Amino acid sequence: MTLAVRYTAARTLDTAPAPSTPPGPGEVELAPAFVGICGTDLHIFHGDMDARVTTPAVLGHEMSGRIVRVGDGVEGWAPGDAVTVMPLRWDDTCPACRAGHQHICQHLDFIGIDSPGAMQQRWTVPAATLIRLPESLPLDRAALVEPTAVAVHDVGRAQVAAGEKVVVVGGGPVGVLIALVARAAGADVRVVELSAHRRLLAEELGLTVWDPAAEDVAELVRQWTGDAGADVAFEVSGAAGGVDTAVDVLGVRGRLCLVAIHPRPREVNLHRFFWRELTLVGARLYDRSDFEKAVALVADGTIPAERLISKVVPLAQAPAAFEALEGGGDVMKILVDCTDEAQEAAV
Ligand SMILES: NC(=O)c1ccc[n+]([C@@H]2O[C@H](COP(=O)([O-])OP(=O)(O)OC[C@H]3O[C@@H](n4cnc5c(N)ncnc54)[C@H](O)[C@@H]3O)[C@@H](O)[C@H]2O)c1
Ligand SMILES: [Zn+2]
Repeated sequence: MTLAVRYTAARTLDTAPAPSTPPGPGEVELAPAFVGICGTDLHIFHGDMDARVTTPAVLGHEMSGRIVRVGDGVEGWAPGDAVTVMPLRWDDTCPACRAGHQHICQHLDFIGIDSPGAMQQRWTVPAATLIRLPESLPLDRAALVEPTAVAVHDVGRAQVAAGEKVVVVGGGPVGVLIALVARAAGADVRVVELSAHRRLLAEELGLTVWDPAAEDVAELVRQWTGDAGADVAFEVSGAAGGVDTAVDVLGVRGRLCLVAIHPRPREVNLHRFFWRELTLVGARLYDRSDFEKAVALVADGTIPAERLISKVVPLAQAPAAFEALEGGGDVMKILVDCTDEAQEAAV
């Protein structure tokens, strides 16, 4: 019997046997190799998303793996192929889909939140969600493709141009990936992050990082931009203080790109929006072109994915890894190793 990591109630995860079922028509069965734990998984773990999640819920949507079996009618895919999954299922009929925005379908099934995710030894998904990985790309690094696709989408939504000055508020995995993608697009980037461990890691990647607890970030931005303010700010912290920072650093006609999931409404200094003619842009998920670009950025090393991986644990240790991340431990990205070999080694 194969194992799965399940969310059962606020702050409670377990590992339980999960049967492997033959893929239906148009589906494939995968053997997930590595699955990342994401800030959104932590929101679920906190109980912030209980209204949306049906328990017990198998978590996990940042993954890499190989095809085990293909269902009837699946063409172009074979057992053994290395893949990642764009974990979206849309209805193609709602107003959002008809307008061409399938990735934010009004009835979106986000696989790993709304339906069972990848933190298990076998996982069946629609073949339409598969994204091919180059054989040369190690599967642990490939688990960072999904959050990189988020970053590619966000940098696109904010229309970051070469030479622009960009502030990323929140230097967790998603914030650092946004900073790296924006830098690759030619932007001049600063990261604002509370955790000393995460600041150091971002600095090691060549990013300039500020501590909002110890430094006057708005004043540093004034000095850096010759009193103009930044062109773009990304809110990737999910915290009220992060929203304030992102609004305060923007110059005239600046764009605030909202990436984080805020579990409750926030106060926003709207006077600043009026005074400086600011724009607020929401950014959610990604589309297939973002994913394909993300595969290329991870494969060519523009995103040094291996540097962001702090720790790799077998399925049985995933609950403890959530606790570590929750405690703000000195970690960036934790991967769960879902391979059969890793579970045997852990017994
Ligand atoms: N838009 C999307 O489609 C999408 C996709 C993935 C994740 N997310 C969301 O993006 C956010 C970031 O994801 P993550 O995995 O990097 O999460 P994370 O929780 O690991 O990172 C958030 C970081 O913000 C820092 N922080 C907190 N308060 C701060 C403040 N006042 N100033 C500066 N930094 C501060 C924290 O120290 C932490 O490192 C989460 O809310 C997540 O749910 C959104
Ligand atoms: Zn739809």
